[in-house]
Amino acid sequence: MVGTAQRQALRTLPKAELHLHIEGTLEPELAMKLAQRNNIDLPWHTVEELEREYQFENLQSFLDLYYQLMQTLRTADDFRDLMLAYLERAHNNGVMHAEIFFDPQVHVFTNHLDYNTVLDGLREGMRIGRERYGISGGLILSIVRDMSLESANAILDMAEPRKNEILGIGLDSAEVGYPPELFADQFERARSFGWHAVAHAGEEGPADYIRQALDLLRAERIDHGTHLLDDTELMERVARDGIALTCCPLSNLRLQVINSMNEHPIARFMREGVTCTVNSDDPAYFGGYVAANYEALAETRLSMEQLVALAGNSIDASFADDARKTTMRAQLDSWRTAHGF
Ligand code: ADE
Ligand code: ZN
Repeated sequence: MVGTAQRQALRTLPKAELHLHIEGTLEPELAMKLAQRNNIDLPWHTVEELEREYQFENLQSFLDLYYQLMQTLRTADDFRDLMLAYLERAHNNGVMHAEIFFDPQVHVFTNHLDYNTVLDGLREGMRIGRERYGISGGLILSIVRDMSLESANAILDMAEPRKNEILGIGLDSAEVGYPPELFADQFERARSFGWHAVAHAGEEGPADYIRQALDLLRAERIDHGTHLLDDTELMERVARDGIALTCCPLSNLRLQVINSMNEHPIARFMREGVTCTVNSDDPAYFGGYVAANYEALAETRLSMEQLVALAGNSIDASFADDARKTTMRAQLDSWRTAHGF
């Protein structure tokens, strides 16, 4: 059992968060408040009623609720408040740097908001968060793979005039049946904007989707990558090339990608030399922010030394510049000295 001292240590452990959907930080209380503020009719009348929905059989059953609650976000202030609520929690979880996904196709084409409203709100939240908590980072525009390619192209058209305000392109949502190869053109265009590239692959989809993400999208990190376990040769390649995986243990458990935390492949990946990081994915839905994900791994056989190494990986695998990485590394070293690891 993880004791209070270890829990506290994992909370202050300096780390970066590299796999976090800002819409997945929408807590049920805030969703109900926004629904009221924005006159959105939800089928639930109390937070308790809404909370009964948080049982998921798979990725799709989660996405159904996630997209439904996203309609409560309407104004730049809503997006700013959402970002600030996350950054306050992130700060209390030891996060020094956060690279944050958002799903603009849904806000623009499903919910009829202006792209600039969404971007302005999120960036204002990040600006205040940096000032208040010292958290650095950026936004990753995630392509929603089960929406049309026309909408993906149109969102890139909208993003281009302000391309310098975005850190990278991502690929998320329902995975099976939407292989990375479908999005090669969009990723090539994003790279021409000077953006980094990452992609969800091998969460529910096969290991071949991971190969496609690397070969056809030139992904620099793989989000999840759980099914890498099924392809030893690819696992060796990922290890050799130092491609980082952004693992999200509580998400995998709650979406039944794994049956128990002891089954999580992260320990095996680490043994095989794969660079792994620990992240929260959609913490409002999966029962904990990033420190709780480290804690869940501590409950399995991962040692404190391994958890500290994972935090170090999160810094190294981030897209922060060298000066920022050096600062974060120094903070991690002071933490190690203070805690004797
Ligand atoms: N969008 C938000 N969370 C996601 C996840 N875990 N997988 C795919 N798409 C997502
Ligand atoms: Zn995700």
